[in-house]
Amino acid sequence: MATTPEEVASPPGSLVAEQPDTRAAWRGAPPVLYSAQDVHRRVQALAREIAAGRGDRPLTLAVVLRGAFVFAADLIRALIEIGVRDLAVEFLSVATYRGMTSGATRPDVHYVNGVFPGDGRDVLVVEDIIDRGHTLEAIERALSSHCERFQVCALLDRPHLREVPSQPDFVGFTLDTDDFVVGYGLDLDGRYRELPYLGRLPAPPRS
Ligand code: IMP
Ligand code: MG
Repeated sequence: MATTPEEVASPPGSLVAEQPDTRAAWRGAPPVLYSAQDVHRRVQALAREIAAGRGDRPLTLAVVLRGAFVFAADLIRALIEIGVRDLAVEFLSVATYRGMTSGATRPDVHYVNGVFPGDGRDVLVVEDIIDRGHTLEAIERALSSHCERFQVCALLDRPHLREVPSQPDFVGFTLDTDDFVVGYGLDLDGRYRELPYLGRLPAPPRS
C-alpha cells in the first residue's frame, strides 16, 4: 500500500497505523516542524481566508518557483474545492539563496515563459517563506504597479529576521526561530523538497 503524507509525518498516537517498513525509508530525515496533517489543515484555512476577502474579479496566482510549488498546488485545489473560480496561474522565479546563506539583497525576478502575471488583474503572489524580505520586495517592485490588486500569501513568515518592511497579506505559519525549514517544496541545495511535511534543520550562521 502506498504511504500517504499523513502516515509519514504524523506523530505517534495518530489515527494512522504504524508502518515500520515504509517509515524506514525516511530515517535520518529532518525532524518535523509541522506535520503533513498540520500543513493540510492550515492550507485549507488559508484558502478560506483568501476567498473571504475576494470579490468576483478574476484572480491570478503568481507562484514563486521553486519552493512554493507544492504549497501552490495544494492551495489552488483548496480554493477550487470551496468554490473559487476564475483563477489563472503563472510562475515567477527569483534568484536569491545559495545553501543556507543569504544571497543578493536585490534579487532578480524572472517571468517563466515570459508571461507577466500583472496587467490590470488581481494578483496573489504565492511564496514559500519570507525571511529577510528582499525577495518579496523585489517581486513587489516588479509587479505591484501593474496589478489592480497586489497581495501576497506566504506559507511561512519569519518576521524577526526582516531587513526591509515587506509584509505578506496571508501567512500559513509564523516562525520565531532561526531554524532552516525544508520539505513540502522547500529545499536546502536541492534536497528535501519531496518531504511531505515541514522539517527543520539547525539555524545557519547569519551575519
Ligand atoms: P528573503 O529575501 O530573505 O526573504 O528570502 C526568501 C527566500 O529565501 C525564500 O523565497 C526561500 O527561497 C529562501 N529561504 C529563506 N529561508 C529559508 C528556509 O528556512 N528554508 C528554505 N528556503 C529559505
Ligand atoms: Mg522562495
